[in-house]
This record gives sequence, structure tokens and C-alpha cells, in this order.
Amino acid sequence: MNFDEIRLQIAGFQKCIMLPIIGAGFFLTFFSLLRRHRLVYTRAMDNIADTIWLEINLGAIRRNVQRLAQISGKPVMAVVKANAYGHGLINVSRAVLKEGVNRLCVARFEEANVLRMAGIDAPILVLGFTSPEHAVEAARLNIGLTVYRNQTAAQYAEVMAGEKNSLKLHVKVDTGMGRLGLFPEEAPAFVMQLRLKKNLVVEGLFTHFACADEIQTKTTEMQLSKFNKVISELESGGFRPAIIHAANSAAALKYPEAAFDAIRPGIAIYGLDPSDEVPLPAEFEPALAWKTRLTSLKVLPPGSGIGYNCRYVTTKKERIGACAVGYADGLRRRLGNIAILRGKRISQVGGMCMDQSMYQLDGVPEAQAGDEVVLLGQQGEERISAEEIGRSWDTNNYEVVCGLTARVPRYYIDE
Ligand SMILES: Cc1ncc(COP(=O)(O)O)c(C=O)c1O
Repeated sequence: MNFDEIRLQIAGFQKCIMLPIIGAGFFLTFFSLLRRHRLVYTRAMDNIADTIWLEINLGAIRRNVQRLAQISGKPVMAVVKANAYGHGLINVSRAVLKEGVNRLCVARFEEANVLRMAGIDAPILVLGFTSPEHAVEAARLNIGLTVYRNQTAAQYAEVMAGEKNSLKLHVKVDTGMGRLGLFPEEAPAFVMQLRLKKNLVVEGLFTHFACADEIQTKTTEMQLSKFNKVISELESGGFRPAIIHAANSAAALKYPEAAFDAIRPGIAIYGLDPSDEVPLPAEFEPALAWKTRLTSLKVLPPGSGIGYNCRYVTTKKERIGACAVGYADGLRRRLGNIAILRGKRISQVGGMCMDQSMYQLDGVPEAQAGDEVVLLGQQGEERISAEEIGRSWDTNNYEVVCGLTARVPRYYIDE
């Protein structure tokens, strides 16, 4: 074999090896892109095999963001902490960023990290405390942190001193929430000191309202006045942080003067009322529906006990159905939960189990095992809202949706 023949053989061998490798590369990239968007459907699905699931309409979330931007006339920093109030951190974040949201807010550094790992590169602000151990990584990942203590500020400065990146900080002022934040009197000097530190950038200044969701306005007005005083003092010292923000959903709706440079809404993005006293305007749309299936249906004789400790006993021949939802999915372990089956309200009977709950179905004779049951959302003319569930659990809609656990599959539509 001469030299040219050997070269031809090697080239042929390379083609044999390389073409399948390149082909496999394209194939994997294509399917990983599909997988990433796997759960985003373009229209409602009616053929889900799961026994429990959430349907989240990203279209509603996008339109709610547009409405908030229109009402306030200011950029929206979307609060997506706690898995986007149960709606799903990554898909919700991608949807709101498409709508022009310019910053995502989370409670913890770990949540910000999850966003970065998902390839989301928009500015992020961590609203809670972040250990100085994460400061260098936060700066590298362009994750802004909240600061409100001298000791933490000094520790951030120390770990950042030799770094090539800068750490962006938002200083929090406690104007009346009694939670995180400097006293208003301390804030101006704290900010000025912080500005002197190498590799620390004071990007923002913010406060949080305790009572913006109430009819009374006195507390919010007092908080606003304290916050404005801090801003004036800073300005007279020659400095104004680039992003001053205060308004949660209720304040964004009710106090235009609290919008400053950006609003910071959470609950309204998901189409849920800040409170009974400050409900959303009618055009906002709830984005989430919670559904399960009737996994058993039987007629039990009188005197049959239902569930642990037989807390319900049939008084006659009764149709009792079981659904695949329990307290490990986010339903409360209490009597009297309700749901909708074939467009009619049904009542839970007996003690709730971890993965199942039982319903009295005498009022729905046409029901069949396998039927879809709505726990939150609309079916036919009937609707159960997160607000209604919250009231019946003696809590609010926030806790209902944040309590939806990770094992419940989330399906996304965009319509
Ligand atoms: C600091 C901060 N800002 C904004 C929000 C958003 O509030 P809301 O969901 O009421 O709009 C929250 C939520 O708890 C918060 O803790």
C-alpha cells in the first residue's frame, strides 16, 4: 500500500466515525431543546394520563405583567420566589422576561442559582439574607444581594476585596415592617459608607410595605414618608441609587407614588388578589388550575366508615369516590374541602389521607371512575378560587398556591 492509498483509507475511516458523531450531536441538541420546552404546550390539553396535575397558563401570566406595567408606568421586577408562588420558577421566569420584565426577585441565593443553572441571564435580586460565603459567586453570576447590617457589609467587602467582579447590592430600609432592614435614621450613613468599599456597588435602595393590602392607608403613608426622607437625605449628600423600589402588588395598584423606579409585584402576576380589601381589577386572570381524577367510585352500604378513624360514617347507601389528592400534594388535612366534578360541587368526607381523599357523590349520579375533578379552577359553570380555598382554610391565597408540593406535575399552556 502506498502513502496515498493509506491517506485515502484514513479519510474514509474518519468519515465513517465523524459523520455519525456529528449526526448524533445534532440529534442530541435538537432533543435537549425539545426537552427544555417539553412542558410548554400551546393550547389546553385534555388527554393527561396523570391522576393529579397543575395547569398553568403562561399567557395569563404574561398579560398580567403587561397590565401591571401599564397601571404603574414603571419597569416590573417580578417576584418569582417560592417556585414562582407554586407556579414553577423556570417557566414563569422565562414567560415574564419575554414580556419585558427587567429583573427577577427571589428570596434566597439558592433560588437565584437555579435560575442561572437554567440559563436565565437576566438581572436577579435576592430579597433575603445571603451569607458572605456566597458573595463571590453572586458577583460572578451577576446576582444582586440585599444588605442591611454593618457586619454583613464588612464581610462582603472583605471577601470581595481581591476579586475582579463587583457585587451589586440593594440596601433595605425597615420603614415599618419590623423584619429585615436598617432603621431609616441609620440608612443614609450606611449607604455612604458602603459606597467607599472596593468591589461593592450600591445599585438599589428598597423597603417593603406591611399594610398596603388594607383599606386603611395610614401605615403605608407613614412608611412612604420615612422612605422618602431617606432618599432626600441621600440626594442631598449627592447620591441616588440607580433603582429605588418599594411597591408590592397591592401598593402597585393603590399607591402610584410608591412606584419609584420599578414595582416589585408577586401575587398579582399570578392573577391572585393581594387581599379581600385590595382585590385585583377584573381584567387580571388567575393562571393556575389544580386537577385530579376520580380513581375509585363505589356504592357503600349504610354504616360504612370512610378514611382513617372512620371520621365519616354513611347513613344510607352512599356513592363515595376517591381522588388522587392528599395533604402531601398541598391540600389541607381538614374536613369539608370541596371540588368540582361534572360541573357540580362535591364535598370531601372522612379524614384526608396523604395521597387520597374521599368525596360524597350522591349529587352526581352520572360520575364515572376516571373523571377529571377540579380542586382549584373552573369546570362548567362552577369555579373554585385560591381566595375561596384560603378563606375556608383560615389563611390566604398566597399560602394555598405556595403549598402546592413538588410532586404534583406542572403542565404549561400559553394561550
Ligand atoms: C420583599 C418583598 N417584595 C415584594 C413581594 C411581593 O409581594 P406581593 O406578592 O404581595 O406582591 C414580597 C412578597 O412577599 C416580598 O417579600
